[in-house]
Amino acid sequence: MSAIESVLVENRVFPPPESAVQGARIAGMQAYEALCREAEDDFEGFWARLARENVEWTRPFTRTLDESRAPFYRWFDDGQLNASANCLDKHLGTPVENKTAIVFESDDGQVTTVTYRELLTRVARFANALKAQGIGRGDRVIIYMPMTIEGVVAMQACARIGATHSVVFGGFSAKALNERIIDAGAVAVVTANFQMRGGKELPLKAIVDEAIGMGGCDTLRSVLVYRRTGTACNMVDGRDKTFDEALQGQADECPPQAVDAEHPLFILYTSGSTGKPKGVQHSTAGYLLWAHLTMKWTFDIRPEDVFWCTADIGWITGHTYVAYGPLAAGATQVIFEGVPTFPHAGRFWQMIERHKVSIFYTAPTAIRSLIKAAESDEAVHPRRWDLSSLRILGSVGEPINPEAWMWYHRNVGGERCPIVDTFWQTETGGHMITPLPGATPLVPGSCTLPLPGIMAAIVDETGKDLPNGAGGMLVVKRPWPSMIRTIWGDPERFKKSYFPEEMGGRTYLAGDGAVRSADRGYFRITGRIDDVLNVSGHRLGTMEIESALVAKTDLVAEAAVVGRPDDLTGEAVCAFVVLKRPRPTGEEARQIANELRNWVAKEIGPIAKPKDIRFGDNLPKTRSGKIMRRLLRSIAKGEAITQDTSTLENPAILDQLAQAN
Ligand code: PRX
Repeated sequence: MSAIESVLVENRVFPPPESAVQGARIAGMQAYEALCREAEDDFEGFWARLARENVEWTRPFTRTLDESRAPFYRWFDDGQLNASANCLDKHLGTPVENKTAIVFESDDGQVTTVTYRELLTRVARFANALKAQGIGRGDRVIIYMPMTIEGVVAMQACARIGATHSVVFGGFSAKALNERIIDAGAVAVVTANFQMRGGKELPLKAIVDEAIGMGGCDTLRSVLVYRRTGTACNMVDGRDKTFDEALQGQADECPPQAVDAEHPLFILYTSGSTGKPKGVQHSTAGYLLWAHLTMKWTFDIRPEDVFWCTADIGWITGHTYVAYGPLAAGATQVIFEGVPTFPHAGRFWQMIERHKVSIFYTAPTAIRSLIKAAESDEAVHPRRWDLSSLRILGSVGEPINPEAWMWYHRNVGGERCPIVDTFWQTETGGHMITPLPGATPLVPGSCTLPLPGIMAAIVDETGKDLPNGAGGMLVVKRPWPSMIRTIWGDPERFKKSYFPEEMGGRTYLAGDGAVRSADRGYFRITGRIDDVLNVSGHRLGTMEIESALVAKTDLVAEAAVVGRPDDLTGEAVCAFVVLKRPRPTGEEARQIANELRNWVAKEIGPIAKPKDIRFGDNLPKTRSGKIMRRLLRSIAKGEAITQDTSTLENPAILDQLAQAN
């Protein structure tokens, strides 16, 4: 039975264990329902109460929600605050001050810890260093860093002085970095000489140099370089400084800059349906409120917990559940530099034992690859380690198939830890639909129910509600504080992408398909309904990859990219390519396919490399010239074509593409 079918017949239910309900912030479904009712009865009052209880304001807000310019919603907009003060300064004088904030484990297993007090000092010094570079409120700073304490320090330091950070994942290419520097109009890049991953030293600064060398980065004035390894890197006089040079003589204190609630805390680029990534802009107050509150609700974070979210700071999960949420909650968290399979595929389990992790949050792709490893090598099976410290498990980024869910539940959670399958997006800032560990009965493969105040629904193309059991489009009918505010520099695209006119222009369209179960009304996400792929939990636009392919102008005439299901990575990238030369076969086809894969890695990053590349004389098109992607999707899956092909200009091409592999 395929994973999809088995979800449809899923009827196992796992009520929360008594130990998880005891003392939980939201204990039992009645408590959850009471919060939902509070939000329904007095929407603004509900959010105002939570914002007063969970955020420290330097100037209290008096207006909760301004909808006058919808869908450009504004929350708490006459209030002022500082995000870094909410993560660090607020703990001074409390028991958290001298608590460990971060336990950092490097690629080669060395451990460094910092307390909240020490972290604050490091953030303040770095903030002063940024100021000394002339960086201030409203300036954009690109952060292109490995997973390190310094990466978090850089983000917090930007927040402290009111600069807007834009973190670019260290796996993105020079070209991708160049585009982001230009689009954001960044004044500085914070980077490292190298990053260590899986025992290998990989360049970062050299890629920054290459990105700047591509031109157009006119706003950029300085590059700050953290020396992660002893290997030298190129430094440009007058533009580049090492961290040591920049921090030299800086004071240990830096008063946090109060900013307006709606001040952009960060921009994070993500893939959409066009070739150009979108700069998702988040606010300060609404975002921070949700980062903090979901730590309490979804993870039921407690003072003694050791929290570990394995996401990189280059993704939204690493923003909300590494750089901001755990600190706002005063938690101790683990940050890991390396990869789950180095030096062996038991690394995660070994680290859980070593650091006594109690809440572990990772992606289904990681789980699936570790299942595969554990099943072929007993030495890396989780049962080889003591995982008794765990009390809650989490999953994020893509649908988790029930088989992987059950394995995670049994072999990692010892059948005692609730699994929170958290559905959310870069645009939503934090969790949207997720179980609560002390309340929600779990159904494998389902993200269950929306958090209180999140008015999620499933509708048809006109925005009409669909009954349980009917698949449709996932929407959110009311705004929420941590939602995307706009696409940086492109408000029209923001409106068009997320608030379709056909639905009235105020309903948030997630871009995912979903269905609610007939019995419980639980949500199950069925996958993207737009041209976005989810490969190993990483979001990629098909158009982005197509643009990258056709940019190889000496070779490629035309390209179409679709996704196909993959047991390990969830989805895999499949490219259909027409060359400017006769269609290659055999060894020549393999060579060109490899050349194109490497090309895509250079244009976007290795994560975007197509798994399959098929060459054709042509692509299946309608008479008006539109590529028929649904046919390509069937071919990519290896399915027989059952769709209507009567509108096809060149039906013979289907056979050719089906055979070309
Ligand atoms: O398709 C959904 C999938 O990931 C997309 C969002 O990707 P991104 O913005 O990169 O954020 C990932 C981390 C929050 C969604 O549109 N997705 C995310 N979480 C889940 C999921 N699909 C199913 N179940 C989830 N728990």
